[in-house]
Amino acid sequence: MTFQVIPIDSANPDAQVIGDAAILIKQGSLVAFPTETVYGLGANGTSADAVQKIYEAKGRPSNNPLILHVSSIEDAKALVTAWPDVAEKLAESFWPGPLTFVLPKKDSVIPEVTGGGPTVAIRIPAHPVALALIKASGVPIAAPSANRSGNISPVSAEHVHNDFGDSVMILDGGKTLGGIESTVIDLTCTPPRLLRPGLVTVKDIEHIIGSIEVSTSSQKNSPLPSPGMLSRHYAPRTKMIFGSMSTVEDAMKEGKSVGFLGFAESKAKKSILMPKDHAAYASKLYDTLHELDREKLDLIIAEPVPETDEWLAVRDRLHRGSATA
Ligand code: TXA
Ligand code: MG
Repeated sequence: MTFQVIPIDSANPDAQVIGDAAILIKQGSLVAFPTETVYGLGANGTSADAVQKIYEAKGRPSNNPLILHVSSIEDAKALVTAWPDVAEKLAESFWPGPLTFVLPKKDSVIPEVTGGGPTVAIRIPAHPVALALIKASGVPIAAPSANRSGNISPVSAEHVHNDFGDSVMILDGGKTLGGIESTVIDLTCTPPRLLRPGLVTVKDIEHIIGSIEVSTSSQKNSPLPSPGMLSRHYAPRTKMIFGSMSTVEDAMKEGKSVGFLGFAESKAKKSILMPKDHAAYASKLYDTLHELDREKLDLIIAEPVPETDEWLAVRDRLHRGSATA
């Protein structure tokens, strides 16, 4: 089957379009849809066959578990055997929103979603299209970012289409605002442990539930350990390294065509001025990397970002994008 990219009003999604997409979900097909973070590649999270299609389409190892997207706290609770106090507090503060909880799964949650493991990742996305699709489908929607495994996550329908063509239905709600993926936090341990930094910062979380565990390496410069995935992830096809203006100049002397993202203009062939605010930077990051990738440059040089807590997620993604293995 081939599909068209379907425009949809992000603020006020058309019920007919949502209804058609929900039918596809219920039938076991894939539907790509916008969330407040990045585009997701959705499937019926209660069907092993449907979920299998996600892994095939993405070329993703099936031991890397998926996030189930639901539209109410009640529906989240129905998937887990424990709902600790910290879950209640975080849900009240951040849902719908870019925070994913890892909790012990009920038997009814299929192992295809959890990579065979005993826990399940869940969030309520804060996007009218995503919420409407989940409600109309009547099932939790399993959805990873809608990119081929290892590529940069999509922040527009065009990015999704570049990776999957007409093979899946794509709901085009314009560019996603958050720009990077949700924060993933493991609530099965005490204190809770950060698994993937994201739009909700450690400080935001600690303000609600007190201290959480953050691996010390991630506070410095290396990416966090995430289950079932390589360090190199969220990466442009073009080689990316960290560097300064002088790194740009040295590379240019060697005859290289260089892209630069930083806080000031450089002499690079393609120089992208990035915002000095962490959230604005995150919102622009993947779109910028997609854009630089299209230029077929020899090298992308990223200026290091501040070492503070609020920049953790951006630092993590830049490090994953520039990792060599
Ligand atoms: O913002 C987002 O989270 C987007 C949108 C579409 O919701 N989704 C997304 O999904 O980024 P994905 O599959 O690209 O990343 C999910 C992350 C992976 O790092 C995965 O390892 C982790 O969540 N994860 C999922 N289930 C888990 C579990 N049971 N235990 C630990 N980590 C888990
Ligand atoms: Mg992903």
